Amino acid sequence: MLNVVVLAAGKGTRMKSNLPKVLHPIAGRPLLQHVLDTSRQLNHKGALNVVVGHGAEQIEAALTAEDVRFVLQAEQLGTGHAVQQALPYVDNDETVLVLYGDVPLIKAATVAKLSECVSATSLGLLTLNLNDPNGYGRIVRNTDGDVTAIVEQKDANDEQKAIGEVNTGILAVRGEHLHKWLPTLSNSNAQGEYYLTDIIALARADGVKIHTEQPQYEWEVLGINNRIQQAELERVYQLEQARRFMADGLSLSDPARFDCRGELEFGEDVQIDINCVFEGRVQLGNNVRIGPNCCLKDAVIGDNCVIKANTIVEDATLANNCEAGPFARLRPGTELANGAKVGNFVEVKKARLGEGSKANHLTYIGDAEIGKNVNIGAGTITCNYDGVNKSKTEIGDHAFIGSNTSLVAPVKVGKGATIGAGSTITSTVPDDQLAVARGKQRNIEGWQRPTKKK
Ligand code: UD1
Ligand code: CA
Repeated sequence: MLNVVVLAAGKGTRMKSNLPKVLHPIAGRPLLQHVLDTSRQLNHKGALNVVVGHGAEQIEAALTAEDVRFVLQAEQLGTGHAVQQALPYVDNDETVLVLYGDVPLIKAATVAKLSECVSATSLGLLTLNLNDPNGYGRIVRNTDGDVTAIVEQKDANDEQKAIGEVNTGILAVRGEHLHKWLPTLSNSNAQGEYYLTDIIALARADGVKIHTEQPQYEWEVLGINNRIQQAELERVYQLEQARRFMADGLSLSDPARFDCRGELEFGEDVQIDINCVFEGRVQLGNNVRIGPNCCLKDAVIGDNCVIKANTIVEDATLANNCEAGPFARLRPGTELANGAKVGNFVEVKKARLGEGSKANHLTYIGDAEIGKNVNIGAGTITCNYDGVNKSKTEIGDHAFIGSNTSLVAPVKVGKGATIGAGSTITSTVPDDQLAVARGKQRNIEGWQRPTKKK
């Protein structure tokens, strides 16, 4: 069984932030959350141990979960000391996997493979060959090719500095070995820290073999120390995700200009143009087309819907064959029934548009229940707010709302009713009647325009 220990006590000074480093996001999820989610895919035993120090309270508040145990490392005395804090929760016969809260993209398959080579006589170390190994601990091997030690950059001599194989920090080792070795670490080195990496030489001395693995992709083991690296890994993550989606049949105009910061489900023949952002849980049916610059969050979009450029959708449900945008804003509680259409500069909130109903231009529909085949003219406003309370507007099937109508809620417009353009409707309009509520037109004969005074 696997016991996971995630190190997350460091300060992250180079982020220059109030937020602890491991809470900074990749794809909308904290770095540490990525590591925990990956760990959950492993066959691990008991709680996931997270060693926290700097910003411990904030991290615990953000990521508390039933299967996570936070272990406090009050002072950051080194990676070896950090793992040592978790030892009370480590049994001898377990395989301990050490991960890092700021190395978010490690793949479950990679660490699963690494932990498989752990036994009472061997441990697993994840290494990487780099053209520029600067800053990393170097993997020292003897003439037989066996790993004999890890030497930190700051402790390395010139010959060691020339080694291109580096320590990723990720390793897997039997609990009994950690119990034996960690208490014996010394901090007499260039940084005055208790190095986890020193267990390699101790293993060697105890006849424990060092088995090395390499990750499938370099980005799996890249850590985040500053916002540049954060942005770089964000692009790696997004591109990988986009590739996965495309392999599953999603059509993206440009995978480099696609961002999904949540869960995206899609049917067949869905097309997404450039610069779209998906957040929360978004479901797209078959044949959905999404134009450029759209943002969708927690939305369900039915088959054959077309979302045109620059449309913002949040917490909304569109049935099949709907159209929205360009420049539409569908706010929380929007429901469009089959074939409903919302055009440019239309804002909808907490409202349902029935089958085939249309609001094509420049309209605000809030707190409304609109029937089937209703036509809402340009400039229509539901006046849903009296400064204190929100009230509802109800419009029956087949009603026709003339342009520039104000519907002062609470108000009902009956089925088949017609509202003359420019009306301010304050009371019920019965079914099939015409309501006109506007100043009557007066024409003044012989009218003279004023002339400019000299
Ligand atoms: C470490 C490795 C180095 C490796 C590199 C890969 C050691 C001694 N060195 O060096 O061989 O090439 O990672 O990135 O392990 N942490 C704690 N508590 C501490 C110290 C660190 O939780 O007391 C955490 C940090 O938050 C960080 C991680 O451990 O997430 C690595 O610590 P850091 O000091 O950055 O180690 P490196 O010097 O990068
Ligand atoms: Ca580091």
